[in-house]
Amino acid sequence: MRHDALYTILFSGAVCVVCAVLVSSAAVSLKEDQLRNAALDKQRNVLFAAGLAQLGERLDTGETLRRFERVRPLVIDLATGEPTDIDPATFDQAKAAKDPETSRIAPDNRASVQRLPLHALVYEVLQDGELSMAVVPIEGYGLWSTLYGFLAVGADGNSVRGITYYQHGETPGLGGEVDNPKWKALWPGRKIYGDSGRPAIRVVKGTAGSPEEAPYEVDGLTGATITSNGITAMLDFWLGEEGFQNYLRKFQEGPAQ
Ligand SMILES: Cc1cc2nc3c(=O)[nH]c(=O)nc-3n(C[C@H](O)[C@H](O)[C@H](O)COP(=O)(O)O)c2cc1C
Repeated sequence: MRHDALYTILFSGAVCVVCAVLVSSAAVSLKEDQLRNAALDKQRNVLFAAGLAQLGERLDTGETLRRFERVRPLVIDLATGEPTDIDPATFDQAKAAKDPETSRIAPDNRASVQRLPLHALVYEVLQDGELSMAVVPIEGYGLWSTLYGFLAVGADGNSVRGITYYQHGETPGLGGEVDNPKWKALWPGRKIYGDSGRPAIRVVKGTAGSPEEAPYEVDGLTGATITSNGITAMLDFWLGEEGFQNYLRKFQEGPAQ
């Protein structure tokens, strides 16, 4: 059989079209599953940050949703810290931060946050009907990537209850040690606000000691000072006046309606 140039071109074109149709229909049909899984992954990370799941524990969908019943997602006004009527189920903070209508340019900050959303999604955790924790989103630049995570804060609005990162591109074994359960276990019990009222918590180079010895300090990540400094910078920003300080002040005063 003779395969001339036209036949070869038409045949490869047909193969390309068939593959493109297959790939794009797979992408479209899997999109909903991907979104659902991303939302579940966030819920799991909120549970890990809040200590409602043990670090390293595997949670299936049913168990994640069962434990999440104690968690109340809430969209707040970032400037005042007050709750809003915005539906947390449909609110997309990353999207809000990009839209000029729902965000503003962030003041200069060491976390390299460019735009601040006007509203933010936080999670309040109930224990025996009482508010016991607030989980706030944190993000900022490390060495290679923006790290996205959650910080859980106790009812006093000042004590760390846990930290997790659910997305980052830092080097495994170096900056990627933010995922190490041993490092995350160093956080509960540390304090956020110093005597000046500003965030004082920071990741130091080397070891810090227990929360009693060093309430505002957490061990640095070995060989990853840049990632460690990035974590200090993002906490300084997101727990400060531009971030969740007003919300945490109100949270500590009593339940939001
Ligand atoms: C391949 C490679 C990957 C690295 N990944 C990271 C990283 O994820 N986070 C980080 O802070 N430093 C990383 N570093 C090291 C930094 O370049 C820098 O040397 C380091 O932050 C200094 O930290 P130290 O003072 O704790 O040694 C990496 C270096 C290399 C060569």
